[in-house]
Amino acid sequence: MRARASGKNAVLGHAEKKRIEGQFARHINSGQVKYLKAGHLDVLETMRRGIRFTDQATGRTMIDCFTSAGCFNVGRGNPVVLAALEEALGSLDMGSWMLVSPWKAALARELVDIAPKGLNRVFFASGGGDAVDCAIKLARGATGRKTIVSTVKAYHGHTGFALSANGKEHYRCHFEPLMPEFLFVPFNDIDAIKSVVNEKTAAVIIEPIQGEAGIYPADDEYLKELRKLCDRHGALLIFDEVQTGFCRTGRFFACEHSGVLPDVMALAKSIGGGVYPNGAVLYRGIPGINKFLSRHHDFHPSYNGGSDIGCCVSLAVIRFMRETRLWERAERSGARLRSALEDLRRENPAIIREVRGKGLMIGIEYIHEFMGPMMSDALARNGVFAAYSGNAPQVMRFMPPLVATDEDMDEIIAAARAAVGVMKSILPLALPAAKVPFLLNLLNNERVQTLLFNWLRSAEDLFAKIPGLGRRGN
Ligand SMILES: Cc1ncc(COP(=O)(O)O)c(C=O)c1O
Repeated sequence: MRARASGKNAVLGHAEKKRIEGQFARHINSGQVKYLKAGHLDVLETMRRGIRFTDQATGRTMIDCFTSAGCFNVGRGNPVVLAALEEALGSLDMGSWMLVSPWKAALARELVDIAPKGLNRVFFASGGGDAVDCAIKLARGATGRKTIVSTVKAYHGHTGFALSANGKEHYRCHFEPLMPEFLFVPFNDIDAIKSVVNEKTAAVIIEPIQGEAGIYPADDEYLKELRKLCDRHGALLIFDEVQTGFCRTGRFFACEHSGVLPDVMALAKSIGGGVYPNGAVLYRGIPGINKFLSRHHDFHPSYNGGSDIGCCVSLAVIRFMRETRLWERAERSGARLRSALEDLRRENPAIIREVRGKGLMIGIEYIHEFMGPMMSDALARNGVFAAYSGNAPQVMRFMPPLVATDEDMDEIIAAARAAVGVMKSILPLALPAAKVPFLLNLLNNERVQTLLFNWLRSAEDLFAKIPGLGRRGN
């Protein structure tokens, strides 16, 4: 059977699921299949709606608290966005990059309207990495300078300039030499950044809330000082709002919390409503940029970014966000979740170190790294798909769709509580081992974790086959 796109009515059998997993393992990534199974995430993402997706082979439904790090702010399969996509498909295609199009013009106008005042020009991009590449190239082109200052553990994507700005060695080391003259300073440390920004600096690039690094909001004061620092040295300030944009943090854009206006802002992910990829770079029409663009208006063409169909979808996304005042829902649901997670922290000081974030971009930091993967597994057992931070495995991220209702939030809270309960039943074995540095290193090692979880999962599956001991429910 060929994979069907809609999946609305199809019911898959267990044999079919096994075949699909085998095909995925053979042709895409066998390690990933093993890893997901070990962490109770062996779920076929077939049907999706609202804040949930369902495996049609098993009937298992999960709440999506990962949302591909902020791609589904308007919910999975949002009907308003799908209707706009269907309508666009009836008469449009991607359109030609070179030609004037009403849909590109309308989306640019709408983006300028929702953006902080001053960001009044737009480039389109095919995704987050491409938008960051465009932003950095614009900064180098406009200033004629080379140095880009980024932050430790920053995450900006995997394309050329974006990868060079990633603040974790792990992502960069196999591909050196990358772009020259990228410097890294600790996040939220104004003295550190003051010591490197100077007349050679083209731009400072920063996430207003570091996502992959473990949900660290930048202090308002830090961002204000950064603005002054860039102005003093003629450097551009770039905000990467690929993850924080489009209502995620309780404002349309995270920079509104501090009131700091960047010169350039990179956007992607939820601009596409989770159904049609798109990206954008908003920038201020300041003299250096205008002069550069008057000579090099075609410095970053994208045939996929800002496609006519993509623009129709993005327009529907923004309309939906404005009509439902989605940022307010993010703020309210975020407060509800944070307060419940704070209670959990107070009750479990030996496990949870801190809860932080803004709006519905929330992280729980555990005492040890290995507890992030452990929590992810325990949440999956309790029907929630959530991911720990790539650059800080001890931080579990909660980024559900912003359309979640109060009841949905309570379900997530109950699952988090149950997951901590599951962890507490395993930790009496792991915590004594964590006191020995060698064993702690082993526990924190991803390969060892996969081996251990795989072993536990196999044992669990074996027990499930024994009559009377079989698994029930999810
Ligand atoms: C802050 C940030 N910037 C850039 C990117 C890269 O986006 P993309 O995967 O669309 O290239 C991501 C992706 O997670 C991100 O979180």
